[in-house]
Parts: sequence; C-alpha cells; structure tokens
Amino acid sequence: MPRALPRACVIGAGSSGIAACKALQDRGIEFDCFEKSDRVGGNWVFANSNGMSAAYRSLHINTSRERMEYADHPMPSSYPDFAHHTQIAAYFEDYVDHFGLRELITFETGVAHAQRDADGGWTITLEDGEQRRYDALLIANGHHWDPRWPEPPYPGTFDGRQLHSHQFLDAGGWRDQNVLVVGIGNSAMDIAVECSYVARRTSLSSRRGAYVLPKYVFGRPLDQIGTGAAGVVPWPVRRTVLAIIYRIAVGRVERYGLPTPDHRIGEAHPTVSGGFLQRLADGEIAWKPNVDALDGDHVGFTDGSREPIDVIVWCTGYKVSFPFFDPAFISAPDNDLPLYRHVFRPGIDNLFFVALLQPLGATMPIAEAQGQWIADYLCGDYRLPPEAVMAADIGREREQMAKRYVASKRHTMQVDFDAYMHALANERRAGAARARAAAYALPVAPRVQGAALHSA
Ligand SMILES: Cc1cc2nc3c(=O)[nH]c(=O)nc-3n(C[C@H](O)[C@H](O)[C@H](O)COP(=O)(O)OP(=O)(O)OC[C@H]3O[C@@H](n4cnc5c(N)ncnc54)[C@H](O)[C@@H]3O)c2cc1C
Ligand SMILES: NC(=O)c1ccc[n+]([C@@H]2O[C@H](COP(=O)([O-])OP(=O)(O)OC[C@H]3O[C@@H](n4cnc5c(N)ncnc54)[C@H](OP(=O)(O)O)[C@@H]3O)[C@@H](O)[C@H]2O)c1
Repeated sequence: MPRALPRACVIGAGSSGIAACKALQDRGIEFDCFEKSDRVGGNWVFANSNGMSAAYRSLHINTSRERMEYADHPMPSSYPDFAHHTQIAAYFEDYVDHFGLRELITFETGVAHAQRDADGGWTITLEDGEQRRYDALLIANGHHWDPRWPEPPYPGTFDGRQLHSHQFLDAGGWRDQNVLVVGIGNSAMDIAVECSYVARRTSLSSRRGAYVLPKYVFGRPLDQIGTGAAGVVPWPVRRTVLAIIYRIAVGRVERYGLPTPDHRIGEAHPTVSGGFLQRLADGEIAWKPNVDALDGDHVGFTDGSREPIDVIVWCTGYKVSFPFFDPAFISAPDNDLPLYRHVFRPGIDNLFFVALLQPLGATMPIAEAQGQWIADYLCGDYRLPPEAVMAADIGREREQMAKRYVASKRHTMQVDFDAYMHALANERRAGAARARAAAYALPVAPRVQGAALHSA
C-alpha cells in the first residue's frame, strides 16, 4: 500500500547536507534544502559568500582522499591523496550535479528560525521572512564557523594584530613580522608551517604537547592502515599498535622540540601534519608554553620568557552553534549536546543532526551513512530503541569519551571513524529487525502538504 511520507527540511548544503539530501532523494522523501551560500561545499569553498568558511589559501585535506570520498561517488583518481581545497569544493559541485540535487537546493536562502509547533511539526522562517512547514528537520549547518577565542581572554593588552584562524587567508605580507600561533590542533599546524616560510620568526604556543601524526607512514596514508581492524579490535589494542608505529616512524616528539604530551597517543583529536615537526627541527618554528599575559608589543609565557610579537593567530577552535534555535530549546554549551549516536535527540522524534561529531577520520562517509539511517527511519524501515535504552547508550558513550580523551571543549563529540561506522551499520540492522517485528508505522506522521508516497 503506498503511504504518504513526511516532508523534510535540510538546513545547509555543505558536504553533510548534500549527503543527507541524496539519501532522502534515494528513498523518495520530499524535502527542501536551504543554503545561505550561492553554492554547495560550505567550509571547502575558499572565501565562501556565506562568510562561514575557515578555508585558507593553502588548505589541503588531512584525511586521505579514499577515506574522505562518499561511498557512492568516488573522488577522481587523478586527485592526490591529500587534495587541495579547490579540488574538494569541485568534487562537491560534481556530486550534486551527478545526482541531480542542485535543483532541490534553495541557494542564498538562510534559515533564520526553526520552531517546533504544538502539533510536533516545524515552522521554518527564512531570512526573508517567508515561513514554511515541515514534518522533519535535518540540521547540517556545520560546526567549524563560529570561532572560539580564549575563554577567559588572557590578561593584558596587545598592540599588534590579532586574528582567529577562521579569519586567516594566507601569510603573504607578514615577511617582516614576528608571528605567534596559539593552539596545537590542525589549524595551528597548517598556519604555523605556512608562516614559518614567510615570517621573520614563527612561534607556536600550546598548553600541552601533541603526538603530531604524519600524513604518510611506510609509503601509505596513515589513515589507510589497519582500517579493517578498527571496527572490531578493542581500542587499547589499537592504541598500542599505533604507539608502536609512531615510535618507529616518528620517534619521541621531545626530540623535535615539543613537550612531553600529558596523555597517551589517541587521547586527543589527531593533530596531523606532514611538515610541522620538520620545521620545528629546522628551527623555523619555536615552541613556547602557554601564554601568560599580553604586554603591548610583547607576549609573556608561563615559563617566564617574553617575546616581541607583531601578529597573534588564535587557533583555539570553534563553538557548536545553532543560531536558528531558541537557546532554551536546543543549544550546545561548551560544545556539548547529548544525542543518540550523534544523530537523534531523544524526546524529539523528528529532529536529526548530520555530522555533528569530530571523527578520527573523515566526515563525509559518516554524513552519508547518517543520511541513509535518517531516511530508513523516516520511511518506517528503522525503529529506534526505547528512550531508556537510548539514554543509557548516550551515558555509556559519554563516559567512555571522558575516560579516553583529554578534558577539553574540543573533545565533546569524538568518534573513531571505523568503530562508529561499524556500530551504525549494526544499529541500522537491529532497528530494521525491530521495525519488521512491529506493525508498520511511520514514526513521524506526514502532516504537511506535498508529502511523497511510499510503498510499505
Ligand atoms: C580548516 C578545516 C579543515 C578541515 N579539514 C578536514 C578534512 O581534511 N577532513 C574532514 O573530514 N574534515 C575536515 N574538516 C571538518 C569540516 O567541518 C568538514 O570537512 C566539513 O566541512 C563538514 O561539512 P558540513 O556540511 O557539516 O559543514 P560546513 O562545511 O560548515 O557546511 C555547512 C553549510 O550550512 C550552511 N548553513 C549554515 N547555517 C545555515 C542557515 N542558518 N541557513 C542555511 N544554510 C546554513 C552553510 O552556508 C554551509 O554551506 C575541516 C575543518 C576545518 C575548519
Ligand atoms: N588540514 C586540515 O585538514 C585541517 C586544518 C585545520 C583544521 N582542521 C579540522 O578543523 C577542526 C578544528 O581544528 P582547530 O585546530 O581549528 O581547532 P581544535 O582542534 O579545537 O584545536 C584547538 C586548539 O586550541 C587550544 N586552545 C583552546 N583554547 C585555548 C586557550 N584558551 N589557550 C590556549 N590554547 C587553547 C586547544 O588546546 P586544548 O587541547 O588544551 O584544549 C587546541 O590545541 C578539527 O576537526 C580539525 O581536524 C583540519
């Protein structure tokens, strides 16, 4: 019997939103996708007209091409393993054209407000004031566009130039400058390396050490090694193997000039750089401990040293923000938003988050799999476990995350790529069995006009 399906709204057409659109389209679920920009690709569009991209001119991916591509649309084999952002943006353009998604995306149209109505449906208010109603809402607005500056700010005043990594485009023009890069994540790596070729002097300050991972080991992208084991071999075993590989391929980070990390390998979001340790070893980047105070044209550090500094680039990460929700309804203070397997919000049966996570691995195939999972659910082919089971699952996952990772606002939604994909596939199967065992019922009732028909 053909049945009506719910009608969905997707916020954002970055790499996550377009993967979700593809999954909805595949299952015949009608949707509108609203995108602030004049094009798809979000973060990967340098100088994006939405003003939200963090891409700098020299940006290359740090998850290898084969790990980052969508399962149903490989990247061109002519692409290098660690392609440039222009190639990645072109790939997303090609994806939407290949699957006929472009006409289904409403460009230059931001969502200003999303309101859950008394009947459970959604009223979406666009930036031009138009309102539309939907049965289901998929959030794919990205989480690397709202800069987090040091909280609280460091004491003192600084007379030079300060910018967040989100504002950094290139180091051109900094030839005569002493640059300080703060942080030891991937933004700090790339920006410090670039500055080290241009600036008079480049220093990097961090409040802890890091195991800076190379892009390649033994002639292969590191993220392509041992992937089959990741879903099944327990983390402590994989960590031991990673530590051995690191010791053989890289050695001790202290030897390059970094402090001893205060954690074991794999207990922080991976900092990946093919060049950083070499530039440290070359003396072209100087490591400094945490900033103590800003002092006019100098910066003081916690070891008592002071440096003359002209430019500070704060590579201090991002806030997870949903400006279209009333904060009392949904917000992520300190980047924390408990979700079932990072997608479902228990208690709200028609709200879904896409790629709201920090994978040890690439984001795109995860968004693709999550989109398919959401589509299964909206078609009634997947049934969620009871809320108590979801709550216990969320609690267990948060406990494991807190146990494994260094306490930091950047470690609130970490997932191991392969383990997550493996668990998601298992859960989709389990939920499909639950759906088959019960009488067919749509979890989200189609309330609005224009809903598609689905053969149960
Ligand atoms: C410098 C940098 C490098 C990175 N490198 C990698 C990498 O190598 N590999 C990897 O896997 N990940 C990487 N990431 C993570 C990155 O977040 C993902 O690659 C990817 O961009 C996530 O896609 P997304 O669609 O979720 O978010 P985004 O790319 O941010 O896209 C979100 C989209 O939503 C739109 N939008 C937002 N709000 C609204 C609204 N209210 N209304 C309408 N539209 C809206 C935006 O315009 C945008 O197009 C990197 C992140 C940064 C900052
Ligand atoms: N080439 C690439 O592919 C590439 C490039 C850039 C970014 N990215 C991705 O983009 C995302 C964001 O990366 P990011 O590097 O911008 O942010 P991030 O991973 O959140 O790292 C932020 C860094 O700033 C530090 N920090 C935060 N607040 C601080 C403070 N008040 N004082 C001193 N240090 C502070 C953190 O230290 P603590 O650990 O002590 O909190 C951490 O070292 C990640 O997913 C990353 O992989 C990828």
